[in-house]
Amino acid sequence: MWWWALLLVLLVFIITFYKSCFSYFKNRGIPYLKPSIPFGNATDFFLDKVSFGALFRDWYLEIKKNNWPIGGAFFCGKPVYIPVDNEIIKKILVSDFLIFPNHGLYIDEKVEPLSGHLFNMEGYKWKNLRAKLPSAFTAAKMRRNVVIMEGFTRELVKRLDQNQSLDIKDVLSRFSIDVISACAFGLQSKTLENQNEELIGHSRAFFDVQWSRTKNTLVVLIPRYILSFFRFKLFPKETSNFFLNLFRSVKEQRQEETTKRNDLAELLLDLCDKTKDHSDFSGKGKMEALSFNEIAAQMYFFFEAGFETSSSTLTWILYELAANPNIQNRLRQEINEILQKYNGQIVYDAINEMEYLDRVFDETLRKYTIFSILPRVCIKNWAIPGTNLKIDEDSFVMISNYGIHHDPEYYPEPMKFDPERFTSENKAKRPYCSYLPFGEGPRICVGKRFGIWQTKVGLVAILRSFNVTLSQKMKMPLTFETAGFVLKAKGDIWLDFEKVNNNNDKFI
Ligand code: HEM
Repeated sequence: MWWWALLLVLLVFIITFYKSCFSYFKNRGIPYLKPSIPFGNATDFFLDKVSFGALFRDWYLEIKKNNWPIGGAFFCGKPVYIPVDNEIIKKILVSDFLIFPNHGLYIDEKVEPLSGHLFNMEGYKWKNLRAKLPSAFTAAKMRRNVVIMEGFTRELVKRLDQNQSLDIKDVLSRFSIDVISACAFGLQSKTLENQNEELIGHSRAFFDVQWSRTKNTLVVLIPRYILSFFRFKLFPKETSNFFLNLFRSVKEQRQEETTKRNDLAELLLDLCDKTKDHSDFSGKGKMEALSFNEIAAQMYFFFEAGFETSSSTLTWILYELAANPNIQNRLRQEINEILQKYNGQIVYDAINEMEYLDRVFDETLRKYTIFSILPRVCIKNWAIPGTNLKIDEDSFVMISNYGIHHDPEYYPEPMKFDPERFTSENKAKRPYCSYLPFGEGPRICVGKRFGIWQTKVGLVAILRSFNVTLSQKMKMPLTFETAGFVLKAKGDIWLDFEKVNNNNDKFI
């Protein structure tokens, strides 16, 4: 009998707890989506029907349909503000950035050294490091990187020339890992040549494991100090150790070298050098030298971001081109015409001239917003412009770039793949902040240039050599992975590559 009473007490407690959570937006006069116990508005996510990014996209679209400039929703009992009005989004990301400076994800460098990377960093430390990093991605450095990237396209083309259907994501992951290893760290990882399988396995752990459903949930729901108390870890210990050892060897190798490489590893290791003076972000003060673990965390994130985002983008582009042969032919024609002017060489200036390539690239990241949420934490009460409402200090704001990219007001028939949306005239018709694949404001993706160039170099090399079609092995209709953080297809993307003859072939 007593346990019935206990159950009843527990039930009353749970209902009272949720009622109090769910009154959050009502008490503040903010319109909100109707939640239910126990998942709030996130039932589809917990039932494995949608990914994290798609959940926020759906909230955005529902709030937009209700004509609210900003709305509330609940991730279980946790309130999340979802801005929809373009001016509000612009203020949060750009002009009022100082009120919304952080992503608010889990960081504890003592428990998990690799969690201390730029994406998770906050405050003065973030400002200092962020001020230093853009110099790793200047146009001059990208020009040099394009030469390195082009070198790897030869192995890529060889790998695709096999007269059989290929799981393209796997091949492109290898291409991207080889490129980022060489450009950023001077390492020859040779994964395209089937070496270094351990590196591939551990690299995938970040997006497959770190961002798995349970960990996503814990990171959003549980306050950071509680996660730290329980020594919460994002990665398996072997993965952490593998990368720490890898970057230690990069450091040791660089200490022995006398020539300068002028790459990302060098820039980071320089910041580690206690014998040197480094100015802080303002240029007036001094920045403390970084520890090895701090440097390793940056190297790790750059490595991960560099390989997963670009290979996913290139996979989606090829999938859409295979499904839309007219667009593919038009793009190949542009590539061939421009490469001819450059003696068939894939060089920086040639790719820079490819205007239709830009449109295809932009439309792909619109339809497949691979990095599909822009999280922000409000650090001071903020009056919502155009309303008499406010966002409270310490609350979580989620800008759904995926939702914006599928908003029919900006992109009619959002599921249609149409590069013409990105002609200069069409772009000019849309407001600022209606296209955010790389985020916006001071926290915008620092590796944007690298991601764009890496994807384009790979694509140009593939399209000038092959006609790409959907393989019979490809399971249709396409569905999306629900567990990961980056937008991925469920199952593999199978494509066929048939050699095309063109004059540029003689240069390969
Ligand atoms: C197609 C490729 C890529 C896409 C779509 C992408 C997208 C994004 C997005 C949406 C953000 C969050 C921005 C915000 O909160 O406003 C971000 C942040 C970041 N990205 Fe990328 N990214 C790409 C490639 C890369 C590459 C190649 C690197 C490094 C080599 C990189 C490094 C970073 C870093 C370090 C941050 C954190 C910036 C900060 O918090 O200050 N990304 N990226």
